[in-house]
Amino acid sequence: MGRPRGGEKQRKKERYYQAAKKHGYRSRSAYKLRQIVKSHRLLQGVDSVVELCCSPGGWTQVLKELDSSLQIVAVDLDAMLPIEGVKFIQGDILDEGVIERIETLTGGVVDLVLSDCSPKVSGQWELDVARQLSLVEGTINIAHRLLGSKGKVLTKVFQGPGFQEFLQSVRERFNSVRLIKPDASRKTSAEMYLLAVGPKKMSLEDMS
Ligand SMILES: C[S@@+](CC[C@H](N)C(=O)[O-])C[C@H]1O[C@@H](n2cnc3c(N)ncnc32)[C@H](O)[C@@H]1O
Repeated sequence: MGRPRGGEKQRKKERYYQAAKKHGYRSRSAYKLRQIVKSHRLLQGVDSVVELCCSPGGWTQVLKELDSSLQIVAVDLDAMLPIEGVKFIQGDILDEGVIERIETLTGGVVDLVLSDCSPKVSGQWELDVARQLSLVEGTINIAHRLLGSKGKVLTKVFQGPGFQEFLQSVRERFNSVRLIKPDASRKTSAEMYLLAVGPKKMSLEDMS
């Protein structure tokens, strides 16, 4: 997803594509996660992970490579080739039944929620960004439900219509929020990653 802008995109795509192929990663975006894990010590204090929108599994490979003892529940609409030790659910992250299955498999509490969701592309940028935002809102709701008090959520998000309001709503629900642009994500793309830490306890009043 994102508007094509020629040369730089092509070169970076090619560089990470070649590297992913060489290292046996299933996706180029494996490098985005590697870079964020390193720069933000994302896996520090983390034993359990829910990974939303995981297929084909590049991020899952990175997680297992960096810490083979991680407890991982991974979810996607599409099938994913198995990765040893990873519990996989095929389904829609916006479906309540799927969220309940995640709760059952994790025991209801995890340390980290990851989300790299992209909707099936319609070709209409505004529509695609709106659909992506609803996946990100779903991610934040799942994270708020599953994370312990020091838990973290990392999610892809596009800076388009509705982004500022969304950012404000996450600031109200988490103790710290920052935006990250890894090198493996091209500079000209509106794609960012949002890292939120420490879900705030919400009263019914706050939620209305
Ligand atoms: C960019 S890919 C994720 C790549 C992954 N991080 C990796 O490294 O292999 C985006 C994924 O989002 C998934 N997706 C989109 N909408 C979804 C939904 N509602 N529920 C679950 N998965 C969804 C797509 O099927 C696709 O596999």
